[in-house]
Amino acid sequence: MTGTSKTPDPLLERRERAFGKGAKLFYDTPLHLVRGEGAHLFAADGRRYVDMYNNVPCVGHAHPRIVEAMARQQATLNTHSRYLSEPAIALAERLTALQRVTESAIFSCSGTEAIEVAIRIARIATGAKGIVCTDHTYHGNNTLVGALTNLPAGDTRHTDVRSIPFPETLRPIAPNLTGEALADAYVARLCAAIEDLKAAGAGFAALILCPILANEGLPDIPSGFMAKAAQAVHAAGGLIIADEVQAGYGRTGQWWGYDAVGLVPDIVVTGKPMGAGLPLAATTARRDLVEGFRAETRYFNTFAASPLQGAVGLAVIDVLESEGLIENARVLGAELKAALKQRLGHWPGLADVRGTGLFLAAEFVGDEGEPDTAKAFDLVCALRDRGFLTSIDGAFNNCVKIRPPLALQREDGLAYLDAFDASVAHGRRPADRSLCPRRRGRTRAIRPCRRGPQPHRQKRKRRLPHRSL
Ligand SMILES: Cc1ncc(COP(=O)(O)O)c(C=O)c1O
Repeated sequence: MTGTSKTPDPLLERRERAFGKGAKLFYDTPLHLVRGEGAHLFAADGRRYVDMYNNVPCVGHAHPRIVEAMARQQATLNTHSRYLSEPAIALAERLTALQRVTESAIFSCSGTEAIEVAIRIARIATGAKGIVCTDHTYHGNNTLVGALTNLPAGDTRHTDVRSIPFPETLRPIAPNLTGEALADAYVARLCAAIEDLKAAGAGFAALILCPILANEGLPDIPSGFMAKAAQAVHAAGGLIIADEVQAGYGRTGQWWGYDAVGLVPDIVVTGKPMGAGLPLAATTARRDLVEGFRAETRYFNTFAASPLQGAVGLAVIDVLESEGLIENARVLGAELKAALKQRLGHWPGLADVRGTGLFLAAEFVGDEGEPDTAKAFDLVCALRDRGFLTSIDGAFNNCVKIRPPLALQREDGLAYLDAFDASVAHGRRPADRSLCPRRRGRTRAIRPCRRGPQPHRQKRKRRLPHRSL
């Protein structure tokens, strides 16, 4: 059972022993979940929550068709990839057909592994080592990929990695520029990073980015940036790796984040939602790029490209298509965004609402326009009190993230808006204050904005629209 603030939770004590202290939990009084169904999660105390956070079960928790596909394949055949077997081949065909820009796939078991494969493909194809990424990014947790995490722009700690400021319009690197001119300023930083890598002897292999800059806080990207960046990368002899681990699989209301932002990548990485919980990721590219990698590395991954991965991966695509979930992400996401945008100017501190499809961010700032991490964090707690699970996001951790399963129902979207309003207006519910998460270790200190002027504080309080969605 779940403990209260006064009675220690025996499961928490067992967890600390079993996992060792330090394994992160979302709340100070952690949430003990026992069951999921659709976009709902059920706690041990019987309480139902709406999941506004999880992108992995994109089709909804415990989807019966996924469960059935998993059980049937496991009960029939599950081996490794060194036999001829239909499901994984069919998944590679289906995935690359959906992507249009790729031909062959290398399967793996996590986004991290798939990103590493992508980097190795780029390095083999170009004969160079240098990788450019965005600052405040995250692409995975092993030594190679983890080196790209949250690197300050211009950092030279790693001889073969450079990071550039992520492109955005809210705190632009050149305060006086907008549109294409601002995009050019960001591309100039990209070109400088490429030149720096070349000068350091690493050469230039690839630019890697999440097309919608998910971990950076879903910024509005200066128009033209993606096309100009792709042109600069190719002119310098490099490749573009699109990390679709978060952006892909319909999250934006289109199959791929790169379509949502007008980017044509050379290598695509997919993960999280691909297996609806079964570890399944893929690196896809033109056949010659994939074959160059295979020839050089003889890559083998025990659990990858198995019949089980294939069957479950196909079932996920089937459900996304047959249940119209990508359309749901597009329509419901647009309505939710419009409704949240109507709250700009009404709720003090709510400075921006961004994102596409069912991946949105509501940014909070303080009186001087400085990122208000504490406010966003308190709001996440208050939303939990009201039965909605989410988290903070963005370069300053001052955004409330909205990233539910694509199977989110409209009535839950409506109820979320009510909970959002109540949480901003009244904060935590008194009865639930004991659940307040620890701030310690959760937030980074609010840094002064490095990118020019702050978004202006909204002075005039607009009337809140009638509960609209
Ligand atoms: C954009 C992005 N890429 C890659 C990864 C790594 O995926 P995994 O945790 O499956 O290794 C993540 C994980 O959060 C991510 O957000």
